[in-house]
Amino acid sequence: MWRYKLQCFECHRDLPAEETGFRCKTCGGLLEVQFDLDGKREPAWKNRQLSVWRYRELLPIEKEESIISLAEGGTGLHQCKRLGRRLGLKKFYVKNEGENPTGSFKDRGMTVAISKARELGKNKVLCASTGNTAASLAAYSARAGMECIVLIPKGKVAGGKMLQVLMHGAKLIQIEGDFDQALEIAMQLADRRGEFYLMNSLNPFRLEGQKTLAFEILDQLDMRVPDVVVLPVGNGGNISAAWKGFSEFQQLRIVKDRPRMIGIQAEKAAPIARAVKSKQNKIRPVHNPQTIATAIRIGSPVNWPKVLRTIKESRGTAETVTDHEILEAQKELATLEGIFVEPASAASIAGLKKLTEKGRVDPSETIVCVTTGHGLKDPSVLERLPKSLTGYNLEITNGSRVEALERIL
Ligand code: F0G
Repeated sequence: MWRYKLQCFECHRDLPAEETGFRCKTCGGLLEVQFDLDGKREPAWKNRQLSVWRYRELLPIEKEESIISLAEGGTGLHQCKRLGRRLGLKKFYVKNEGENPTGSFKDRGMTVAISKARELGKNKVLCASTGNTAASLAAYSARAGMECIVLIPKGKVAGGKMLQVLMHGAKLIQIEGDFDQALEIAMQLADRRGEFYLMNSLNPFRLEGQKTLAFEILDQLDMRVPDVVVLPVGNGGNISAAWKGFSEFQQLRIVKDRPRMIGIQAEKAAPIARAVKSKQNKIRPVHNPQTIATAIRIGSPVNWPKVLRTIKESRGTAETVTDHEILEAQKELATLEGIFVEPASAASIAGLKKLTEKGRVDPSETIVCVTTGHGLKDPSVLERLPKSLTGYNLEITNGSRVEALERIL
């Protein structure tokens, strides 16, 4: 494993690598892991299977024995010709993170963060969540034999995710309020009671696992750098982690360039997209955020400084999409490509569609959309399907079954 330190994202003050707090003690800034990449060359990754741990030199875990894994990463990068044709795009790919063990990209971060928790001697882990972080943490803490506490906004989490949390034996606490309030309480508890280790994306070790998304995309494209990468944005951890990953491969001179990063938010939960569109260098939190994409129903994203810098440095942008556009994109991806994703994930497709229509994306560019979670997580979408799509009833009368079926077809 290579040497690393923790650093404040804002004032660049160094912190010891075994720091367990989540904010800079001097300025309150977010923390970041910094690897010492000077004089380093690409390790013999080629001989290892595509997965999060393929890149272990660039992950902040000291000992191989600490690793707790469920075989995360190694997800498909699917060229989507049929949907690409509909969108007018020539080189369009979907990186489908729903193929991870608990059905979302969170597993990349969780395998690293839980391994780090073990190295730091923690045995109680905690998160606030819109569902996927909770499902992932519940699974990884079960595997690690740790106690797990999960705070969710009551009535605002998809059924599949709730089932995962309960099935893995985590303590599920429902908060009257939204995700932002749940996270606030979780942060306060972690501050007051050091034994509860916070696993939200404020945890810099978790984001290190998530950066492997970028490494895999580059590996799968044989180190051809895509022009554009599009991701849904909630708390902003994933887009900034991916940017860090692209940047590290550039620092290692494995690639020369980096892609433009585009973040998509739901129209009524879009503090980051609004700040980008109005060229502000701060966000204004959205109170009472609303969207069918419950995973990204977030009004006050903690990682906003990292996201704004990612978008600026990469010369990217942000866009908003309506619930209708999200559901339409979800259906199109499933119908044309066989890839079933949850609504928040379909936001990236819907956003790309909008930007293509506006001429903000060049049709000849190589574009990767990241779909972050599996469609089975949120069965409530069934109620939102148009009546014409919900199937046929076959009335069976004596002797005329096949004929009746033939009439429907
Ligand atoms: N897509 C899905 C399916 C998610 O679950 C999330 C975040 C995001 C996108 C946004 O990622 O927060 O890194 O910008 N879900 C969190 C959770 C908040 O608690 O599961 P982000």
